[in-house]
Amino acid sequence: MDDLQYSLDLFKHLGRRSVLPLVSRPISTICQAAATGDLPDLNNVQGDAIYLFPKNAENFVFFRINNVTSFRTALWSFKPTTAEDVKNNLISIAVAKANARDASSVPTVDIAQYQISFSRAGLYFLGVNEGTGDVRFDKRCMNDDKELIGDTKQWDPMFVKATPDPVNGSVRNDTGALHGVITVAGSSAETCTKASHDVIDLFGSSITVAGGKPVEGRARPPPYKGHEHFGFRDGISQPCLRGLVIPRAGQVQVDPGVIIMGYPGDPVRDNPTTKVKRPAWTKDGTILVFRKLEQSVISFEDYVQRNGPRWREFIPGGDISPPLNKQEAEDLFGARFIGRWKSGAPLAKCPFRDNQKMALDPDLINDFDYVVRDNPNISQYEPSDYHCPFTAHTRKIAPRNLNPFIDAKFLGSGSLVRAGLPYGDEVTDQERRDVASGSDELPRGLLFNCYMSDLDSGFVRHMIGYARNDYWPMTSLVPQKKGN
Ligand code: HEM
Repeated sequence: MDDLQYSLDLFKHLGRRSVLPLVSRPISTICQAAATGDLPDLNNVQGDAIYLFPKNAENFVFFRINNVTSFRTALWSFKPTTAEDVKNNLISIAVAKANARDASSVPTVDIAQYQISFSRAGLYFLGVNEGTGDVRFDKRCMNDDKELIGDTKQWDPMFVKATPDPVNGSVRNDTGALHGVITVAGSSAETCTKASHDVIDLFGSSITVAGGKPVEGRARPPPYKGHEHFGFRDGISQPCLRGLVIPRAGQVQVDPGVIIMGYPGDPVRDNPTTKVKRPAWTKDGTILVFRKLEQSVISFEDYVQRNGPRWREFIPGGDISPPLNKQEAEDLFGARFIGRWKSGAPLAKCPFRDNQKMALDPDLINDFDYVVRDNPNISQYEPSDYHCPFTAHTRKIAPRNLNPFIDAKFLGSGSLVRAGLPYGDEVTDQERRDVASGSDELPRGLLFNCYMSDLDSGFVRHMIGYARNDYWPMTSLVPQKKGN
């Protein structure tokens, strides 16, 4: 049995998960690659970046360091969860599921997982002055680039820096800077809360927790688990890191260095001409981008309900048999925002009606590239929006296929591993009534976090090159303005 079949069998009870470890058999190709140094050292990579923490709750403890000496002492006792640990956690969960009599009797595998990340200001504060090789990270904090990435609204005060410098970057100015974040992920809210307290106790007075408490992310309750607050299943499309992750049909395959520094695919390591080098300590590291994104769920629902009746405008030819009912019409309007139905089924493959079967099959849900193959009048040789709008979220933020204009390798080279979780309470009928009579919606949204080895190739390219690019898609010498 080869590694792939062995891994598929091992994890068959975690079939809905989009990232599953490729587990090596003895004398496998993976072992050989690891021996030649081409694969990240799973015992040296923090756990969320490659395999994603299995979690129902996640707390982000943003902090400033008060005392470098006592912080360093506490850090020696802090044990981050490694990618190897996460692999083993996933095996434990798979085994518990395999041994359960039925779905209702699966015991919860109680897990707490930890990782720590530093801002550039935090590294300076600790006396680490060497550059990381990521030119943007080494000069600018996100607050410096707030306008560049298109943020027009007020930020949560916790993340606002008193002295941003959009021209020169402000990482050298420590005033009001966050020094880092400890991520604590748990199998339940209770486990996560307790583990967060333990971690805050461990660092004690060596840190001040920004905002006085962790920022809490929670999976939505069943049947919405795995769905973000607008109702759409999230976390489906993730890059497959070659040699480390089980490749599923349609998944974009990338070299591990796209996410983990110091390996093939890392644009700094791979650039023979650059004077910028990665210091040795960055090997097996990654860059975390964190964003707290508020969602106006009631307004979104209202917008979809008001526009659903326009469905005939969005169906090529203007009609479909049998006609869509009210709910189907609203669902279609919403799906055209995202590029997927709430179930996760891709609009590119089921453009008019949801398809639950496709949504449940890990080898169908990602197997699309936006090429229209079912209509002889549509060219397969240039991008078409016949099935999915160019401006749908998934298509705009990760175009997948801009043949023949942009090489798929370029698109893959900017991939992100996304690991976010919703925050805030569920909408209630009472809140809907309150909002109808003029109250504000309660705060809720997405704690978006993602990993990449290089900010400009990853998150920045997604925001500036794709999401904020009104001339989209870039598929001619004179791209047309399509809006954002
Ligand atoms: C509140 C804000 C956001 C919501 C509600 C949201 C929701 C979603 C949903 C429902 C999907 C489809 C599920 C999937 O393919 O995994 C998705 C995909 C994706 N999102 Fe977001 N997202 C948000 C913000 C962002 C931001 C800021 C980025 C920035 C880089 C981003 C990057 C992506 C990427 C790369 C994909 C995968 C697309 C693909 O490969 O097909 N998202 N998002």
